[in-house]
Amino acid sequence: MKCFYCDFAAFSGQGGSMDRYVSAILAEADLHPGRAVDTLYMGGGTPTELSAAQLTRLLDGLAARFGPLGGLRESTVEASPETADAARLDALAAAGVSRLSLGLQTASDRLLKSIGRQHTFADFRAVYAAARVRGFALSVDLMQGLPGQSKEDAAADLEAVLDLAPDHLSIYTLQVEDRTLFGKREIEVDTDLARETMETALERLAAEGFVHYEVSNFARPGFESLHNTGYWVDRPGLGLGCGAAGFLDGARTQNEDKLTPYVTRVERGEKPVKSAERLEGREKLGETMLLGLRMLEGLVPTPAMRAAFVPQLERLCSRGLIADEGGRVKLTRESLFVANEVFREFVPPWERTP
Ligand SMILES: C[S@@+](CC[C@H](N)C(=O)[O-])C[C@H]1O[C@@H](n2cnc3c(N)ncnc32)[C@H](O)[C@@H]1O
Repeated sequence: MKCFYCDFAAFSGQGGSMDRYVSAILAEADLHPGRAVDTLYMGGGTPTELSAAQLTRLLDGLAARFGPLGGLRESTVEASPETADAARLDALAAAGVSRLSLGLQTASDRLLKSIGRQHTFADFRAVYAAARVRGFALSVDLMQGLPGQSKEDAAADLEAVLDLAPDHLSIYTLQVEDRTLFGKREIEVDTDLARETMETALERLAAEGFVHYEVSNFARPGFESLHNTGYWVDRPGLGLGCGAAGFLDGARTQNEDKLTPYVTRVERGEKPVKSAERLEGREKLGETMLLGLRMLEGLVPTPAMRAAFVPQLERLCSRGLIADEGGRVKLTRESLFVANEVFREFVPPWERTP
């Protein structure tokens, strides 16, 4: 069953077709011969829904095509406490995976139930301990702005996770997507409360020595996600699997996000691309700008980028939403809570009233 907030390409009740899906992902990789890879990120949906044998076949198959995972700069798998059992953790460790992103969301069993999670905090702690002894670097996902989540709940979530000394945290404010159960229930996020809980988290994590390097991401120095950072600095990436996003040769692609069309097209020897976009000119400059601004260190805009966004940069500066110092442009603390407002300035339509 999908979590009540989840809008990612995830399919439940199709366990029987996972062997065919794994074969299709490897066949899709064969449609990209000679691609060099230095980081791997296996996300979802939930990769640990695959069995240990399927994970081994998939990861060993990718290693046979792109080089041993142990030789990559970083290899991450998103794992859910519901399914990341000892056999799967052993399979991931044996394949050379270096990092796990564990989806906890909240440490409150009451809230876990209310968002459709099938595990408890105790289950999470057991998986966390089992992953730690296998030597993985560990990242934990938390969500804020959940229905019925008080600021005390959110603070307790963070303390519960900090007690486990993770290497990395991602904290996401709930986005209510129309196609989800929360969307159908017309759940609304209390943005003032969400801001307060994020403010508290920023203070607490800074005090704990975490680097806030991206809008939603915090790391112990040296544990920043190399793969995800690549997105934000326009690095090329090969997207394999259902709904996967790719960025190759200047074009952004999105794969089929339904299992049957994805598998069928790959089995026909076709790249299962559902949509492709190659941004040029001002749109491309804008994309590079908004991606770069996701990193808290910001970016040094090129002269072309500055020329393309004079009024936008002036407006954002005058509103105290970006700082423009020493040639570098970056988000201010204030804009962390309205980052989408900043990012919207760099996508069409260009002219908007403040
Ligand atoms: C691609 S999901 C994969 C998580 C994994 N399937 C699991 O269940 O543990 C990665 C993370 O995105 C966050 N996320 C998913 N849907 C979200 C939403 N609607 N709003 C905010 N964050 C969300 C959650 O923290 C989740 O752990």
